[in-house]
Amino acid sequence: MTKRLEGRLALVTGASRGIGRAVALALAAEGADIIAVARPRSQAALESLDDEIRALGQNCTLVPFDLKDGNAIDRLGASIHERWGKLDIFVGNAAILGPLSPLGHISVKDFQELLDINVTANWRFIRTLDPLLKASDAGRVIIVSSGNNGKDKAYWGGYMMSKAAVENIALTYSNENKITDINVNVINPGPIRTSMRAKAVPGENPDDLPAPEEIAELFVELAAPDCERNGEVVSFYDWAGLDQ
Ligand SMILES: NC(=O)c1ccc[n+]([C@@H]2O[C@H](COP(=O)([O-])OP(=O)(O)OC[C@H]3O[C@@H](n4cnc5c(N)ncnc54)[C@H](OP(=O)(O)O)[C@@H]3O)[C@@H](O)[C@H]2O)c1
Repeated sequence: MTKRLEGRLALVTGASRGIGRAVALALAAEGADIIAVARPRSQAALESLDDEIRALGQNCTLVPFDLKDGNAIDRLGASIHERWGKLDIFVGNAAILGPLSPLGHISVKDFQELLDINVTANWRFIRTLDPLLKASDAGRVIIVSSGNNGKDKAYWGGYMMSKAAVENIALTYSNENKITDINVNVINPGPIRTSMRAKAVPGENPDDLPAPEEIAELFVELAAPDCERNGEVVSFYDWAGLDQ
């Protein structure tokens, strides 16, 4: 049977662990080659991802850098242009939780980090990747958001501010591409068994939550060239028929 993403090239941020790692593997299992981004401190995790992707018969290119380095994002865009001339799939998944505390207790440094990693990096990727996604016959952008419980939840202000902003960027980009072959969607994961979730809700039994591999299938669906969904905020829990 033909794989759904045969011959596609996908860039996944936050590919060292959690949802991003599972998504990189699921895209590769469906025939995509992967460009995997995480920080240099996660080199070992990236190398083990590389091994698994190669075992699936796909190519993997590791690009370890910190997303706070906007110039490195632009350089990556230029390298993709030089080597492949196009990009089919961009998954903007990497994010930090930041401090869960009253707005007045968040330090300037922490607030700026939330903006830099969760928002600005995704905008900068869109800026540098736009011509490459347009060079694809079916560019697919998936941005990971959050917030089944609303974006004004007490003590979650820094993180939710960043997710509201990046969601808006994604939906705006979708509207700007109504007449191109680029489709842009947002995924709202809901609680998933990852280290970020364990940090956010430490009292919870992780075994009660869906594994990252379960949500990865939704990314495959939205990344497929024949998927016509565009400009949607897709709740994983609704898609999977799960109660939250
Ligand atoms: N898990 C949930 O319940 C849940 C719910 C709603 C939304 N989400 C969203 O889902 C996405 C994935 O979350 P997750 O739970 O899988 O989180 P995670 O396990 O903490 O993984 C986060 C990933 O982002 C990368 N990252 C963080 N800061 C970075 C930076 N400065 N530069 C480069 N890479 C960086 C990490 O790489 P390093 O190895 O370099 O740290 C890691 O690969 C996030 O957007 C999150 O907000 C998750």
